[in-house]
Amino acid sequence: MLTTRQPVFRRFWHAVMPLTDLADGPRPFTLLGENIVLFLDGDGQPAALKDRCCHRTAKLSKGWCHEGTLQCGYHGWRYDRSGRVVGIPQLDPGQPIPAGYCTPAYHCTARYGYAWVALEDPVEDIPAIPEFGAQGWRTIFQFYETWNTSPLRALENSFDNSHFSFVHRATFGVASQPKPSRYELVESPTGFYAETTIPAANPQRFQRISGVADAVTTRHMRNAYFLPFSRRLDIEYPSGIRHVIINCFTPIDDGRIQLCQWLFRNDTEEDCPAQMLIDFDDEITREDKDILESTDPDAVVDTRRRGIEYSMASDRPGMLIRKKLMELLARHGEQEVHRGNAGSIPIVAAAPASCGAKAACAPVPQEVAA
Ligand code: FES
Ligand SMILES: [Fe+2]
Repeated sequence: MLTTRQPVFRRFWHAVMPLTDLADGPRPFTLLGENIVLFLDGDGQPAALKDRCCHRTAKLSKGWCHEGTLQCGYHGWRYDRSGRVVGIPQLDPGQPIPAGYCTPAYHCTARYGYAWVALEDPVEDIPAIPEFGAQGWRTIFQFYETWNTSPLRALENSFDNSHFSFVHRATFGVASQPKPSRYELVESPTGFYAETTIPAANPQRFQRISGVADAVTTRHMRNAYFLPFSRRLDIEYPSGIRHVIINCFTPIDDGRIQLCQWLFRNDTEEDCPAQMLIDFDDEITREDKDILESTDPDAVVDTRRRGIEYSMASDRPGMLIRKKLMELLARHGEQEVHRGNAGSIPIVAAAPASCGAKAACAPVPQEVAA
């Protein structure tokens, strides 16, 4: 699947950037192939615009914030969060800004410490993360980084019990037990829930992570998939410690994702320092990244396409992700676009993004009358 060629994904919220990254001014991001700029408005709320000034096309992300607006770094035109041009320094006082001067704006909101963006009217809310800010839980922002892979590759990996003994043989994988435990799968309208218990190597250096003193322990895995590209993994150790990972595999383009990962723990900093938890998951995450970046990002979603990838029983969750994605595409009148058919399927023009001026954005603005 070529992620940017499926317009339906523009209609979901995607975690795009930690709010703390916006403290020093506007920042660029590429979401589903679309160059956007994020900034904080006068209320400190994140806003997202097309990263293109409607004057002479300079990237707005090269500008700065000024009194709650985004100022272009080329000639200083200023934009509000709706994308409307609200200031042109070259005008005389009182001289009006011509109607229609604007750049497209996108849905943008703050939640769980991140700016989330939907390029078009979203069809679902942002998945709930009840542990965020809840009593008895601590939040650790673990990873925010770019991977050379696709959301489906990252998703299927996150539900794949048959890679632990190989990819993670140096960490928690039990090399002598390659036969994977079976997931119980329960479908929901927005994804599915998957539950199983796996053995896990638990050397001394991991024992503060698990709260277990044995060399091998178990992980009770409650894993959930949320359309299109998010998942929640609640790991419970026999100690009662829960290690809850939330992932958003945010699509940058057809070959890259932004990995956004939160960790929630029901223990304390004294029990297990946050840095130790970051280092632990970092080691495991590097193992996954290395192998996933060797896979073809154009993953087969429509399983009627035979002879390209072969499967085994433990791929069931990955196959269910594909089924859910295919149902989503069908509901929105789409078919899978992949390298093999991309040339014959017209690129669907994106619906016009909202613009505060409520008028057609002038593609080549006329010069402001002197
Ligand atoms: S290009 Fe942005 S103000 Fe001129
Ligand atoms: Fe893994």
